[in-house]
Amino acid sequence: MAAPQAKTLPESSEAARAAARRRTFAIISHPDAGKTTLTEKLLLAGGAIHLAGEVRARGEARRTRSDWMKIEQARGISVTTSVMTFDFSDATFNLLDTPGHEDFSEDTYRTLTAVDSAVMVIDAAKGIESQTRKLFEVCRLRDMPIVTFINKIDREGRDPFELLDEVSESLALDPVPMNWPVGMGGILRGLYEPGSSSFQPFAEGKCGTRFGVSGPDDPVLLKHMNAEEQAKLVEDAELIAAACPALEVGSYLEGHQTPVFFGSALKNYYVEDLLGLLSRIAPPPGAQPAEKRTVDPGEDKVSGFVFKVQANMDPKHRDRVAFLRLCSGKFKRGMKLRQTRSGKTMAVHNPILFLAQSRELAEEAWPGDIVGIPNHGTLRVGDTLSEGEELRFTGIPNFAPEILRRVRLGDPLKAKHLGRALQDLAEEGVTQVFRPLIGASWIVGVVGALQLDVLTTRLEAEYGLEIGFEDSPFYTARWVDGDDPKEVKAFCDRNRTSLAEDRDGFTVYMARNAWDLGRVQEDWPKLRFTAVKERF
Ligand code: G4P
Repeated sequence: MAAPQAKTLPESSEAARAAARRRTFAIISHPDAGKTTLTEKLLLAGGAIHLAGEVRARGEARRTRSDWMKIEQARGISVTTSVMTFDFSDATFNLLDTPGHEDFSEDTYRTLTAVDSAVMVIDAAKGIESQTRKLFEVCRLRDMPIVTFINKIDREGRDPFELLDEVSESLALDPVPMNWPVGMGGILRGLYEPGSSSFQPFAEGKCGTRFGVSGPDDPVLLKHMNAEEQAKLVEDAELIAAACPALEVGSYLEGHQTPVFFGSALKNYYVEDLLGLLSRIAPPPGAQPAEKRTVDPGEDKVSGFVFKVQANMDPKHRDRVAFLRLCSGKFKRGMKLRQTRSGKTMAVHNPILFLAQSRELAEEAWPGDIVGIPNHGTLRVGDTLSEGEELRFTGIPNFAPEILRRVRLGDPLKAKHLGRALQDLAEEGVTQVFRPLIGASWIVGVVGALQLDVLTTRLEAEYGLEIGFEDSPFYTARWVDGDDPKEVKAFCDRNRTSLAEDRDGFTVYMARNAWDLGRVQEDWPKLRFTAVKERF
């Protein structure tokens, strides 16, 4: 059923104007493709940092500019790296970090529910790798617009056409090259832009000054490449014109086309062009679907949803920071917001706002911005906050776990206590928890192993429970439902040993392997086996 439309608005409210400037995005990539390097160059271009190397210089890249805020020092939480805000070319960018190294977790996926677009970074030598594909699938769920940056062309890489083919075939996106490399690695001569007929040379590891040309066959290009290389460029340009569509912003916004830049984050080659394109065509915050209506960013009342909760690493403090993505209105420090789930109102006195330049507690924030709200465990992933309206945003899903483990309890007398603790932490979004229909032990499900470590540590520190994990015979889980209750019941009756309930009591099929999952899907064509479930 289509959601009713947003409330009618004054022509252009202050919130609508501020929202229109916002570009809230994430970078999706496989470890080592260059996300940290690109982030650093983006922050540099936006004036948010002043020295190349600053992101990396503070030890681990993940701790970027982390220890400046008192609130963090007091609580021992490093949250500022999670959101980086900077201005470029009339737009305010919020870059949300998708932790994607060894600490891959559901948070990584959920962060993508809080952005309006993504930049996909691909290593030119490696093409699309597993983690990029996984993150891409989450973007695809919401038809999110994606700009592609094929990185490291200053090194030997794969054939550019082959890379475009891979984007097109394996991700079903239509790539539109914004520029084109002449050579690669040691013989990279520069990048030709078919759209603007310009060329930016690259020689001796450095980018030269861009200049206009009459076309790929312009003799002036011979100063930067030999005749053979130019002939190849002419041929490539013809092929691009014949095979690649022109960029249509609408098609990009619908998630069909992806503009592709070839470049080098390390050499700062085409990074500003990437930002320029994002400021021109990436979507600002749009209307956000909620249960009873959609919410327009220009509405005067504040609303938002929690997409991530970060617990304190220091067990002496039970504080958490909830990350609220603002969806409408003008947020002001100290304002009172109502949590829809509990009906309780909270005053937000110490919001963490992520303005990189000022390094101060900011006083206000707008749709598309992220506000960190310190709390003692009252805010949970999926919560909606509003200025009073009974709103519930949809679309903060659970993702099918990729690691399932049985929980082994040190002291069997504490089984009930464990059940409650697991439910609590599952609600907060730390892990998912499943209760098999047969057998007494709990099964926890995660998408990354780090979540298991966090669970163990927190159960011990906060609930006094010592646990271990045993392998479970299950490989993944799918939520099961269907339109015909009889069919669902018949399925459940026949598969009891593989069924469990999630924390909300929904039925989950635990597959033993990919073949098993394929088999039940084939045998029960009228049922749905879903890998993503809305949290409400
Ligand atoms: P990640 O966050 O996606 O994991 O990647 P990161 O930026 O840390 O980059 C991984 C490695 O790739 C780094 O090298 C980095 O310098 C290099 N790199 C990133 N972009 C480019 C590029 O455009 N060209 C080239 N040639 N290299 C690039 P490293 O040796 O692991 O680290 P470091 O010693 O350089 O810091």
